[in-house]
Amino acid sequence: MTMDEESAATGSGPFDPEVAREPRPFYARMRQEGISRFHFGEHEAVFLTRYEDVHFALRHPEIFSSAMDAVSIGQKRPLIPLQIDPPEHAKYRRILDPQFSPGRVAAMDADARKLVNEIVDRFVDDGECNFHTAFAVPLPCTLFLRIMGLPLEHLDRFLAWKDGIIRPDVPFGDLEAAERVRNETGEAIYAYFEEAIAQREHEPDDGLLTSIMHAEVEGRRMSTEEVLDTCYLFLLGGLDTVTATLDCSIAYLARHPDQRRRLVEDPSSIAGAVEELLRYETPVTGVPRIVTQDVEMHGVQLRAGDHVTVVLGAADTDSTEFPDADSVDFDRQANRHFAFGGGPHRCLGSHLARFELQVALEEWHRRIPDYRVKDGVELDYSPGIREVAHLPLVFEAS
Ligand code: HEM
Repeated sequence: MTMDEESAATGSGPFDPEVAREPRPFYARMRQEGISRFHFGEHEAVFLTRYEDVHFALRHPEIFSSAMDAVSIGQKRPLIPLQIDPPEHAKYRRILDPQFSPGRVAAMDADARKLVNEIVDRFVDDGECNFHTAFAVPLPCTLFLRIMGLPLEHLDRFLAWKDGIIRPDVPFGDLEAAERVRNETGEAIYAYFEEAIAQREHEPDDGLLTSIMHAEVEGRRMSTEEVLDTCYLFLLGGLDTVTATLDCSIAYLARHPDQRRRLVEDPSSIAGAVEELLRYETPVTGVPRIVTQDVEMHGVQLRAGDHVTVVLGAADTDSTEFPDADSVDFDRQANRHFAFGGGPHRCLGSHLARFELQVALEEWHRRIPDYRVKDGVELDYSPGIREVAHLPLVFEAS
């Protein structure tokens, strides 16, 4: 029986809560099967899971395209730069990359540390918190608003918008309702940024939004539509991903006290821990692609128009690339994981993301070295982007 037949018979599958909680055994079986085809009602998707296949797909956008029809997330036009294929894609990365360079990011160090401590101050004396809502959500969202130069009092609407797109509040499997919510949310996001752009035409500031508005693509300023299509992606790409990675990392460390103690006693091991937890947890489990031409892979015929999920999490736990792949080793050498994707669309915000994670783990463990998941709680991870929305921790502050 293929995994697809089995999932049709048992009702389980890639989006099963049990799989989201502990995806690694499922990944292992998918890798064994090679290229899997899954059916979801009328929809069908091919899953690529082996390290070498994932690597190939990410590096060959001319076959595995991330163009607009790969995924519908309330957008009216292709998101920039994610849904633009090379060679067009490079002209946008050329102007956006410098905005997220390691130097730009490092300049935020003092400000970010202060923010982390202010957030911790809000709950540290309570001896408990829901890590997700108290810390993992507000940190990246607040930093994002500051970087963009947008008012902090708009935080709540940004949170509602990203949830409206990424996990619309509709009955499970109601794809039509989900699409409706995404489109309505998309309208609101476009309208907000349109106004913010118009305002900055008259009153430029030193935020990222103004910078992008004045960036030149091939000797001309980006059009309002291009700026909108970039901002839309930042909102979706830069918030949930960091939140989910913080959730996954702290949920792991809360349940592995020896590994956690090492971070507390030797903060220089935090950089390795950030990288290894990105690999082991791979919070963005997969990325969508659409096949542009008929192609055969390992004897499996893929057809133009096939929807493909490139399962980053399965590649990141493939022992052909990572020795002892199911163990967490903060000293792992040559950790070439795909948690940030790969190829031309590799994450634009990876320096910013690593910086946020590093500062968060350093300051958190300095303030709250000893913590655990509240007794009796079983953690649920959302599928797709692995958030842990209910992550109750108990602790004594240092
Ligand atoms: C730990 C946090 C993050 C993770 C795990 C992550 C993951 C990813 C992944 C897997 C991709 C590839 C998508 C694909 O190939 O289809 C990607 C692309 C992207 N990410 Fe991130 N991301 C994170 C943080 C951020 C942040 C903070 C930003 C800031 C704006 C950001 C902006 C982007 C953009 C703009 C792209 C598209 C790049 C392109 O198409 O050239 N990400 N990210």
